[in-house]
Amino acid sequence: MDLLVLPPRTTDELDAMRAAGRVVAQTLQVVRAAARPGMKLRELDDLAKTCIREAGATSSFLGYRPAWAPTAYNGVLCLSPNEVVVHGRPSGQRLKDGDLLSVDCGAVVDGWNGDAAITVQVGESERPDDARLVTATEEALAAGIAAAVPGATLQDVAQAVDAVARRYGYAHLPDHGGHGIGRSMHEPPFVPNQPQTGLDRVRLRAGSTLAIEPMLLAGAGRYRHKKDGWAVVTADGRRAAHVEHTVAVTDDGPVVLTTP
Ligand code: MF3
Ligand code: CO
Repeated sequence: MDLLVLPPRTTDELDAMRAAGRVVAQTLQVVRAAARPGMKLRELDDLAKTCIREAGATSSFLGYRPAWAPTAYNGVLCLSPNEVVVHGRPSGQRLKDGDLLSVDCGAVVDGWNGDAAITVQVGESERPDDARLVTATEEALAAGIAAAVPGATLQDVAQAVDAVARRYGYAHLPDHGGHGIGRSMHEPPFVPNQPQTGLDRVRLRAGSTLAIEPMLLAGAGRYRHKKDGWAVVTADGRRAAHVEHTVAVTDDGPVVLTTP
């Protein structure tokens, strides 16, 4: 028996989420183009802040303070270079040629949320290992999205994401995953990237909205937090990639809401 069915959004609600998703996607495009060697992370965050404001949206990240966090969040982006997997904070750190940067952005329009992330290779250096890691993570996201159809369960989504990670031989970031999304950025249920007992009891239907976000590690699946209590870094110092989309389940198939 199904324990949980995600709440269905109305057409108007999905339109508002698409509007928020558009702002997020446009902001990520601007940041991708600006993420050149020499740029400070704080400068990328300032650019994003302007994009979100000029689009008439607000940031879901700025001032956000989940129960586990020691401080309110200080930016509109999470900027996570190299061994930082997620939740890297904007700082005076400058990007270098060959960095691998995850950029995560959330925006609100008319009270509805969009949340997405990309991983960018910085500069001109050819890094085949990084390119393979990013490709795998993007393929894992695409597979998870494709599995988000009416009648499927979160187990189907997790299996699809995990199958790609396994095929490439990458580890997941333990204890982290996607989430329901709507009026709040983070809503139940948790959307794991690996199969789990009970996930087959969380069923998707037309109008369900969720954020799917694979976080794949080149090394072992262990992590620690930086001293700021926010940034999640790989225990072995190896690199990670992270991509995310906000997705609506519809009778015509999955619709990515975080597109320009
Ligand atoms: N967008 C992240 C996620 O995908 C959450 C960022 S929390 C913040 O779930 F406080 F850093 F904004
Ligand atoms: Co998210």
